[in-house]
Amino acid sequence: MESIKNLSSRQISFIMNTALIFKEKDYRSEDLKDKIFGLLFFEPSTRTCLSFESAIHRLGGKVIKYNSNYSSEKKGESLEDTIKTIDMYIDVFIIRHPEKNIISKIKKFTNKPIINAGDGDGEHPTQALLDLFTILKYYPKYPNKIAFSGDIKYSRTIHSLVYLLNKLCPDIEFYFVCDKLLEPSNELLSSLKKFKICNDLDYIIKFIDVLYVTRLQKERFNGEIIKSYIIDENLIKNSKSKLIILHPLPRNEELSKDLDNNPKSKYFEQVENGIYVRMSIIYNLFE
Ligand code: NCD
Repeated sequence: MESIKNLSSRQISFIMNTALIFKEKDYRSEDLKDKIFGLLFFEPSTRTCLSFESAIHRLGGKVIKYNSNYSSEKKGESLEDTIKTIDMYIDVFIIRHPEKNIISKIKKFTNKPIINAGDGDGEHPTQALLDLFTILKYYPKYPNKIAFSGDIKYSRTIHSLVYLLNKLCPDIEFYFVCDKLLEPSNELLSSLKKFKICNDLDYIIKFIDVLYVTRLQKERFNGEIIKSYIIDENLIKNSKSKLIILHPLPRNEELSKDLDNNPKSKYFEQVENGIYVRMSIIYNLFE
């Protein structure tokens, strides 16, 4: 799974349905007991890495973790040699890397399935699927209006989720709330039917169904000074009763802790859903 764009609607609904069964049953099994998964994270991660690991354990699979700080990369080994080596140890690659589109390069070095766990400021397809799973619980027929705030340009989670929602329901209206320097690319916008770039959160909060907040991806900036939008209880007091607030986490100052116990906040539910959706993704690889 390199990009969300390659998944068919049938595959997506299969992943959603299986994830729901896994969640409802708190499913544990030995179904994947013969499979070894390689987790290769060349960028920091808490939720993606550990939820994959938990998902693999719940299905009886085995995990090998590659740590770039303690590996031959430090002795100058190429990515190609690293991949060709690990290919002999495992059945599935799960890879996060700072370079956009790296998965298409890595595919040349292995025939094993590769799951993209985030490629630079490119995509994050498994996060988009767990975001979708969370959204569908509250909007089984899709939301009408969804706003994205924070860092639209560099947030791979936003890119994948926008492509995914637009593929499944092209009538959704997308609102992008961000600093001028963090606006979505033309590539993303040209795929959308209905969108607005705006900076008035107080206005749009009154009519949106979903607010998807992201942190500024400072590790991808070149020293620019950028405005951060703050989401707090005060901002959402005029929102619709059915509004849900999502965030892929980790958060910085953009999402106030005062929202954590608000019933509209669903970001910790996203974290939990990450386990079931990732179980479903790896399970479906072998179906
Ligand atoms: C995101 C990521 O790594 O893209 N985190 C995640 O996987 N849940 C978001 C981020 O880093 O801001």
